[in-house]
Amino acid sequence: MAEAVSMLYPTPRIRVQAMKEYHPPLGCRDALRLDFNENTLACSPKVREVLGGISAGSLTRYPEREPVEAIVAAHLGLAAPQVALTNGVDEAIHVLFEAFLEAGDELLLPVPTYTMYEVYASATDATVVTVQAADDLKFPFEQLVAAMTPRTKIIAIANPNSPSGSVATRAQLVEIARRAPHALVLVDEAYFHFYGETVADLIGTIPNLILARTFSKAYGLAGLRLGLLAGPVETMQWVRRVLSPYSVNSLALACLPPAFQDTAYLDWYVGEVLAARLAFENAVDDAGVRRWPSQANFVLVEIGAGHVEFTRRMREAGVLVRDRSSDPGCDGRVRITIGTREQMRQAAVALNQALAALRTGSEAEC
Ligand SMILES: Cc1ncc(COP(=O)(O)O)c(C=O)c1O
Repeated sequence: MAEAVSMLYPTPRIRVQAMKEYHPPLGCRDALRLDFNENTLACSPKVREVLGGISAGSLTRYPEREPVEAIVAAHLGLAAPQVALTNGVDEAIHVLFEAFLEAGDELLLPVPTYTMYEVYASATDATVVTVQAADDLKFPFEQLVAAMTPRTKIIAIANPNSPSGSVATRAQLVEIARRAPHALVLVDEAYFHFYGETVADLIGTIPNLILARTFSKAYGLAGLRLGLLAGPVETMQWVRRVLSPYSVNSLALACLPPAFQDTAYLDWYVGEVLAARLAFENAVDDAGVRRWPSQANFVLVEIGAGHVEFTRRMREAGVLVRDRSSDPGCDGRVRITIGTREQMRQAAVALNQALAALRTGSEAEC
């Protein structure tokens, strides 16, 4: 008779046991996805051409990221050793935190902000210190400076920030780096193209400044998972020790040069989104809904107590939006990605219908 096998599973690190599970919402097939801040249309046709020409034989080889890193570095006006390509900015955040955060260190975060900073930090032995933005969700510069301690090891700033769309000025970022010379200041420019201001030119001149950029937003390549980290060579050498040498696959590497070269497509898409943002913001204002000024490809709106029903009604109308109520200070607030003008006309119709239904519902309750 077979012996009974005892079902004992080895336990992970305490910190991992304490981590929250992160489940991004699933998309519906035919819906307009305004819940992930993606490009809502397509990547450049030049990228599609390259993808179509990839041979099965080329997939047998491990990817070589260095030549593409050199192209990216030149594009940013930096030297190749200052740039590392990553499997999305998410991997950039992950490896940076793995390389630099020790027990006793603090990750300083203005909140609300991008969720994954906290997720990756919670897998390390560092402590997360948050600084809450005021109700206007403006970048809390003074409070952040006041929260710096000798233990502050990384300060992560999404610029523009998500879900608020607010920005820190270049002068504020430089001042933060100056006041915390013992800490790395990560400036995550995931939404750079919709804003236009960067600190890329300061990389290497400010020793504790690190930059992240993604190809998931304006470039429309979220599915390929492509991001980058740029910083002084002295910092990047430690990052490279932790970074998997093959985490950026060869399809992503092949697509990056045409994505960069097709500036006409990028400019067109960004122009379309900026025009659509203005029109959609007007529609939100006309609907009497509070919103926060945004420098990115999304807008945060105040729905209030009906946020769950609103999100559900939008989904039923074929428009996916993201309820940010669980973000600190964001109860009742919903983030809506900006796509093309045509898509945002559809979104505005759905928004007005959902709001009308909410208002009718609450009148009926009275
Ligand atoms: C501020 C910010 N950084 C990074 C990311 C993720 O980028 P990636 O797709 O390159 O991992 C997002 C995605 O929403 C984001 O909002």
